[in-house]
Amino acid sequence: MCGIVGYLGKGNAKEVVLNGLYKLEYRGYDSAGMSVFNKKNQRFDMYKDVGRVAHLDSLVQSIDHSPIAIGHTRWATHGKVNQANAHPHFSASERFVVVHNGVIENYRELKARYLNGHHWVSETDTEVIVQLIERFSDELSVEEAVKKTVSLLHGSYALLVLDQDNPERLIAAKHKSPLLIGKSDKGIIIASDLVALAKYSQVYSPLEDESIVVINQAEITLWNRDYVQQELTFQPMDFEDDLTELGEYPHYMLKEIMEQPLVMRKIVDRYFHDDHIVIDEAILEGIRQADRLYVLAAGTSMHAGYIGKRLFENLTEKPLEVHIASEFAYHPPVLSAQPFFILISQSGETADLRACLSHLKKHHYPSLTITNVKTSTLAREATYALELFAGPEIAVASTKAYTAQIAVLAVLAAKVAHRDAGLRESISELAAKMEQYLTQYESVAELVKRVLTKQNAFYIGRGTDYFVSLEAALKLKEISYIQAEGFAAGELKHGTIALIEEGTPVIALNSEPHVALNTRSNLEEVKSRGAMAVTIATEAVAQEGDDIVLPNVDPLLVPIMMVLPTQLIAYYAALERGHDIDKPRNLAKSVTVE
Ligand code: M6R
Repeated sequence: MCGIVGYLGKGNAKEVVLNGLYKLEYRGYDSAGMSVFNKKNQRFDMYKDVGRVAHLDSLVQSIDHSPIAIGHTRWATHGKVNQANAHPHFSASERFVVVHNGVIENYRELKARYLNGHHWVSETDTEVIVQLIERFSDELSVEEAVKKTVSLLHGSYALLVLDQDNPERLIAAKHKSPLLIGKSDKGIIIASDLVALAKYSQVYSPLEDESIVVINQAEITLWNRDYVQQELTFQPMDFEDDLTELGEYPHYMLKEIMEQPLVMRKIVDRYFHDDHIVIDEAILEGIRQADRLYVLAAGTSMHAGYIGKRLFENLTEKPLEVHIASEFAYHPPVLSAQPFFILISQSGETADLRACLSHLKKHHYPSLTITNVKTSTLAREATYALELFAGPEIAVASTKAYTAQIAVLAVLAAKVAHRDAGLRESISELAAKMEQYLTQYESVAELVKRVLTKQNAFYIGRGTDYFVSLEAALKLKEISYIQAEGFAAGELKHGTIALIEEGTPVIALNSEPHVALNTRSNLEEVKSRGAMAVTIATEAVAQEGDDIVLPNVDPLLVPIMMVLPTQLIAYYAALERGHDIDKPRNLAKSVTVE
């Protein structure tokens, strides 16, 4: 988590870094800080505080034009959310300044071994980095001191280092946490994500693990893990910066919900040639040869994986197991003889998945990453990658990436099974019907007001509706802070029904005709015990009195339609409670720590 950005060039470093921090705020927003070179006193000044980038912006208003600065937006891992723990951090003499994204697992051992008796200003793991650099620079060049420091670190880091004694140089190092470098004729920018580089770079290059980079006004020097100098290879910047603008919407989440029909059309555009699905043959062969598929993912992406299970098992008759990434990484199950792994990740940076991928690589298992970020670590490090084409997702609560994941899984499963026929038309029709449903999005606000009056709620469903109910509950929890559970409708009576009281909201998702009546009976059971019952059904199974009726679509794609009202329910529940919808408490968009 956390976002870092640094700039050196002819532009105004404060502006570039601030712009980058605004773009990186999705990675953490507990505190924000910046160190910027002050031409008057010829030193790096420090500005940092608890709160958002907008607050930092107000603190740095009066800073003059400066050629060099670094900044940080924090998701706290070590130490409370307070000013002392906010980045950047100074070394003891204030010669060095560091920002860091990642976790240093052995920071206690390093303190004890090299910095015994040192006075610590913060509770962070990061401070050990800057103090070690200062300590080693007594005997070594600064480059060597950084190199020695990072060689001692266990864990993950992307870090930027400034030196008061050489204010025209920026040093960076990275391992496991993402770091990309961008260049234009005006200057050099380095940051945790392409979104922060786009506006100021004509070309960019993602850095490999264990790289160290020294940036001067004139040149960039890169060393690999063996400290051998490397050529940096740049690629043209193809990121459309304006896609991250909020436009007419009050929140990114609403914008992203509304963009979903467009995303479906983009997927059709990118994955179909006429009526045929176009996917790299090597991926298809890899999957066809496997005797079992394994989806590894976290959170919303894992919920998309459950739908993928249904899609693959129905279309290809290949068994598919879904595993929680953080569990699989350290407790892998007994695997089949020829497994194939599908890693699903919107960001492509989730640390739990990176741990899984190292395990897979160690055993030479084939892997496919399905991601929204083609430059991401998981996309680059897996055997194969497929893109979601959902466009940047800024709201922490994932919406359009989830539906894109399901659509891409459907496309992939259909192609593996040689069942392309008709899918293009089905997805196009789905897009039109999603659009039609979303024109009435505001009607959900009334339902939410009437129904979600308690601090807990249940979603229930059977089959894929059960899988969607897991996602619906997660969405409600993460932005409205209502304690919500997704439940297999038939399972409630085996214990959890004890929680139903007068007015407890229970929302049934009902789309599968062969179990529709069973789900209705389960809803009746909770209704008799006082629940505030709500039904969301497709036309195929709808009955009079159902609260939301959704248009029928190709059965393969129904979960994409079913999730829409649940996204809106979460949105309006959070809106009504006055929460920060796009940046819910305690969360960050990209979870780069284990
Ligand atoms: O980037 P990823 O898809 O790997 O992220 C996994 C989860 O952290 C993510 O899906 C999370 O659950 C969502 N923010 C929930 O809306």
